[in-house]
Amino acid sequence: MCIYVIAAALLACVLPPSYGNPPTTMAQNKVLVSSKDFPESGLKVLQDNNFTVVQTQFLNFGEEGKTKNNEELLKLIPGSSALIWVSNLPLSTELLDKAGPQLKIVATASAGYNHCNVNELKSRGIKLSNTPNVLSPAVAEIAVSLVLAAARRFTENLDQVRRGEWEIGFDKVLGQDVRGSTFGIVGLGGIGQAVVRRLAGFEVGRFLYTGHREKPEGKELKAEFVALDELLAQSDFVVLAVPLTEETRHMINSTTLGKMKKNAILVNVGRGDLVDQDALYDALKNKQIYAAGLDVTTPEPLPKDHKLLSLSNLFVLPHVGSATVRTRSDMAVLAANNVVKVLNGEKLLTPVLD
Ligand code: DGY
Repeated sequence: MCIYVIAAALLACVLPPSYGNPPTTMAQNKVLVSSKDFPESGLKVLQDNNFTVVQTQFLNFGEEGKTKNNEELLKLIPGSSALIWVSNLPLSTELLDKAGPQLKIVATASAGYNHCNVNELKSRGIKLSNTPNVLSPAVAEIAVSLVLAAARRFTENLDQVRRGEWEIGFDKVLGQDVRGSTFGIVGLGGIGQAVVRRLAGFEVGRFLYTGHREKPEGKELKAEFVALDELLAQSDFVVLAVPLTEETRHMINSTTLGKMKKNAILVNVGRGDLVDQDALYDALKNKQIYAAGLDVTTPEPLPKDHKLLSLSNLFVLPHVGSATVRTRSDMAVLAANNVVKVLNGEKLLTPVLD
């Protein structure tokens, strides 16, 4: 952080105004990056645009994010024109208050923006961008991983290997085939479409999808638009790839789980709160459905003694959908370019609020 601030200050002092932005413009263009792990590629975009880049020295995740970094951000944010929100933690009203009226944009380095205090940003006229699309391939790869892990009982199998007690035999630890099965995709957006494209090579029998409306991409992908109830009743695999909203919160609950097939496998790469986890626990424990694979839970991290983790027919990952080197870099560059657009008076590339 210090290097960027000092470099910007030195440049402002030694260069005549014609060699870069005059100090007043630079002050207007202070960009705060909320976590120390924001990729270099994103920082470079900001530096190349001559913004005063201020980056916290702490992580904006977990306990550090809630405590030390929160305090640090409250100190750093006054006077910022843009905030790059690198976190899954909620964006607080207190932080927005401290920023001052010149804050024009919050660019979240995530596709999901349920943690971004959208109504508050809207009421203050602050723009919000996210990073959709660039992460769809990586998240879809994790969805496919979860499909295979849950269908082929990776939790039980790994446990056997770790214990050194393998169940060996012709009919031991048998799983479910992907080949010939029916897949129900809840939300045929960028991620849902990428999941269908990847699964096409697995000789899937049918793809169904549901959402607010039929999509042209559905035809191209040979996926059939149906109501949620029909999708639940017919699918061998149900993949959740929708954002978390008031409408989708707990869309998978005891009622909807009751509509699923006994051999059904639920996969969630959206947000933990799409699923009522108590109801999921009961359905998995009572073998009302076959298995589940989750990349997202409530809370995150899931405590290691959480009852869900006692289930052998559940495979859980620690929210790593977009966690590849290339994808995180692409997300950083997109977030930074949204800031560039707004500070240059142009339209956002990927707007949530514009
Ligand atoms: C997102 O971008 O919303 C992902 O869940 C982060 O991994």
